[in-house]
Amino acid sequence: MSRAPVYERLLSVPAFTPPEVRPLISAERIAARVNELAAQITRDYAGRSVVLLSVLKGSFVFAADLARAIDLPIRMEFLGVRSYGDDTKSSGVVQITQDLTRPVTGDDLVIVEDIIDTGLTISYLREQLRGRNPASVKVAALLHKPARIQREVEIDYLGFTIDDVFVVGYGLDYAERYRNLPYLGVLDPSQPGAK
Ligand code: IMP
Ligand code: MG
Repeated sequence: MSRAPVYERLLSVPAFTPPEVRPLISAERIAARVNELAAQITRDYAGRSVVLLSVLKGSFVFAADLARAIDLPIRMEFLGVRSYGDDTKSSGVVQITQDLTRPVTGDDLVIVEDIIDTGLTISYLREQLRGRNPASVKVAALLHKPARIQREVEIDYLGFTIDDVFVVGYGLDYAERYRNLPYLGVLDPSQPGAK
């Protein structure tokens, strides 16, 4: 069965464009890239099943699209993590706000992240999850900002590499806003609506 109708419906929703957000990556480009990553995962895990571990809240949109484009039996888990205040700078402190609902012992895990910025969150999560004895752990990240990396991280499935800008939309927020933008945009903090 074709998966296109889901995306067509989503792409036909008119996108509101707040003046403080400069569009960076369109919904169409995101959908195409997410489909490619899903095809890669489908090939890599052929004949097996995968646990997609969505890191909340930022990855919820990416995880939902990725999950529906993967042609394998999957299980979804969600891990609530807080690494930011309402600011655009990483605090470096990772707090687990919601744990998994089931053990992942012996499972093939794919951690689904919105963005790897300093790398502190994903390094911490990898370490935490290793202690739960999964069969394997890989990382799928929609975005990577190499300019700010503090910990070397291996990203197995990467959507886009971006410059050192603060992005919102497609699940990513600034002070809990903009998560529902269907595209990715750069937030201009000097614009009145951004505060
Ligand atoms: P890291 O620990 O610095 O790699 O930060 C990862 C988390 O910070 C991500 O999962 C996001 O929630 C948040 N973050 C980092 N950069 C941005 C951004 O440009 N926009 C929105 N959230 C971001
Ligand atoms: Mg966030």
